[in-house]
Amino acid sequence: MSRPDTSPLVSATRYHAHTCHVRNRISPHSLDFSRYPLPFKGYEYLDKIPINPELDNLDACVAEALDGRQVEDRRGLDFKRVCQILSLSYGVTLADRSRGIFFRSVPSAGGLYPCQLYLSGDGAAGIDTGVYYCDLVQGFLGKINSRPLDTAVVADGQAHSGTGLVITGIFYHAAWKYRERAFRYLLLDAGHLGEAVVNAARAVGAAATLCYDFGDRQLGKRLGLDASQEVPLAYVRLGHETSRGPDVETIPYQSAEPVSGQPAPMEYAILENAFQAGSAITSPGLPDTDARVFEKEPVATIAVPTGEKRLDVSFVHAVFHRRSRRNFTTKMLPRSVWARFLERVFTGMGAGQNPLEPGAAAKAFLVPAMICQNLEGLSDGIYAFSQDGSTMACMEQGAFAQELARVCLDQSWISRAAMNFLFLADLAAVEAALGARGYRHVMMHAGRAGQRIYMAAQELELGCCGIGAMYDKEAVELLDLQSGSVLLYAVSAGPVKNKGYLS
Ligand SMILES: Cc1cc2nc3c(=O)[nH]c(=O)nc-3n(C[C@H](O)[C@H](O)[C@H](O)COP(=O)(O)O)c2cc1C
Repeated sequence: MSRPDTSPLVSATRYHAHTCHVRNRISPHSLDFSRYPLPFKGYEYLDKIPINPELDNLDACVAEALDGRQVEDRRGLDFKRVCQILSLSYGVTLADRSRGIFFRSVPSAGGLYPCQLYLSGDGAAGIDTGVYYCDLVQGFLGKINSRPLDTAVVADGQAHSGTGLVITGIFYHAAWKYRERAFRYLLLDAGHLGEAVVNAARAVGAAATLCYDFGDRQLGKRLGLDASQEVPLAYVRLGHETSRGPDVETIPYQSAEPVSGQPAPMEYAILENAFQAGSAITSPGLPDTDARVFEKEPVATIAVPTGEKRLDVSFVHAVFHRRSRRNFTTKMLPRSVWARFLERVFTGMGAGQNPLEPGAAAKAFLVPAMICQNLEGLSDGIYAFSQDGSTMACMEQGAFAQELARVCLDQSWISRAAMNFLFLADLAAVEAALGARGYRHVMMHAGRAGQRIYMAAQELELGCCGIGAMYDKEAVELLDLQSGSVLLYAVSAGPVKNKGYLS
C-alpha cells in the first residue's frame, strides 16, 4: 500500500512549517503493529564477519571521549577498534525480546532506530575491501559490495585511509509513528548517532571526522539504496591515514541482494521531497554577529561557572547504562554539579568536524538555550548560551518549565526537570546562508548536542530525555522568538528519583 506522489517539492523551511503540531489538530493515527519496522535490514550477504568488540580493557572515561581534543591516533585503525566503535555507538544495550525492541547505546525518537550504519573499508583496517551493512542487533558486518566507497564523493575532498561509516535514515522506520514529521526525527537521530560515533572513536583512541556534505545520489547509489526509502545523512571518516588505498574503479561492483520480509512500506512523498530539497551544497555565508532568535534583549549576561574536579566515570559503563530517564525531582542541584555538567556539554561541542566543510557552518546558526529551575545560585528563568558555552544571557527570569511541559504535548515530567535545554534557529537565515541543506545541518547539530547532554547526565548520575514532540507555534510564543525562529529540539536533564548525583 503506497500513497500517490502529490506533494510539491518543498524547501526545508517550508517542510518544517508544514509539519508543525497544532493543539487539537493532530489527526488521529493508530499504530499498525503488523507493519512495525524490523530492527535490521536483510541481504543475501557476500560474506559475514562477527563483531567482537572486547570492551573489558577499555579504560577511557567520559571526559576524554567528550573533551574534543585532537586524537593522535598513533596505533592506526584495526578491526578490533572498528568493532569497539560500532558497539559503543550503536550497539544493543538492553533487549526487550517479548516486544522485539532492542534498545541501543543512543536514544532514538519512539525507540524506532531508523538510522543505519554502513562501513566502507579498503583493507587498511584489517577488514576485507568492500562495503558492509553493520547489523548491530545480530552482531555482524555483512558484506554487501566488493567495491568500497569512492571517498571522493565526500565534499571536503580529503584523502584518507578509506575506512569510514555512512549514517543513513530509512524514512518509513520513523514515519511508521511520526508520519510526515518523520524527517525531523531522522535528522535528530542521525545527529545523536554521529556524535556517538565521534565520541566512541575518541574513546578507543581513533580520529573521527564527521561530514554532512557529499553527493547524495552518488553515495546512495554506491550503497545500493532505494532513494525513495533510505537516504545518506552523514559520513564519518575514521583514522588519520592519508593513503588512498586501491583504485576503486578497478574493483568489480559486485553487490548483495537485499531481502525484505516485510510488506511494502507506506510512502510519504514529503519526506523524500524535504530530503531532495537539500541536495545542493552551498558554500556558506556566515552571520556577522551571533545568531539571534529571541525578540527581547537579555536582562543580564553572566559567565558560566567552571566545573571543579574531573571525574573518572568509565565511558563504556556510561554507554551501557545510558537510558532516557524522566522521573525528575525538584531537588536543588548544587552549583558545582550543574557547572561541571555545562562544562561537559559545551567543551568539545561540534568537535570532530572539518571546519572547511560547508555543513560545519551550521553551528553558527544554532542557539543553545535552557529553561532552568532549582539550580543553586542561579535564578530560575530562560537563558541563551554563547556558541562556546562560556557565557549565558538571561532572557527572562521566572518559572517556565510548567509552560514548556504544556507546549511539549503536555508531557508533565518536563515541568520537574532542573534543566530543559532548547535548540533554536532562525530557519529563514539558515536557508538563506546554507540553502535548503542547512536544515539538515542544524537539525543534526542539535542531535549531536543532545547526545552530549545524555552522556554528561550519565556521567553525573542525572536523568535525561530528548523531546521532539511540541506544539511548534506555542513554543515560539512561550520563548518570545523572532519571526522565522523556531524550537528544533529540547532535551531535559536534572536530578531523578532513585539515583544520586555525584557532588
Ligand atoms: C530525537 C528524539 C526525540 C525524542 N522525543 C521524546 C519525547 O518527545 N518524549 C519522550 O518521552 N521521549 C522522547 N525521546 C526518548 C526516546 O523515547 C527514547 O530514546 C527511546 O524510547 C529509547 O529509550 P532509551 O533512550 O532509554 O534507550 C526522544 C528521543 C530522541 C532521540
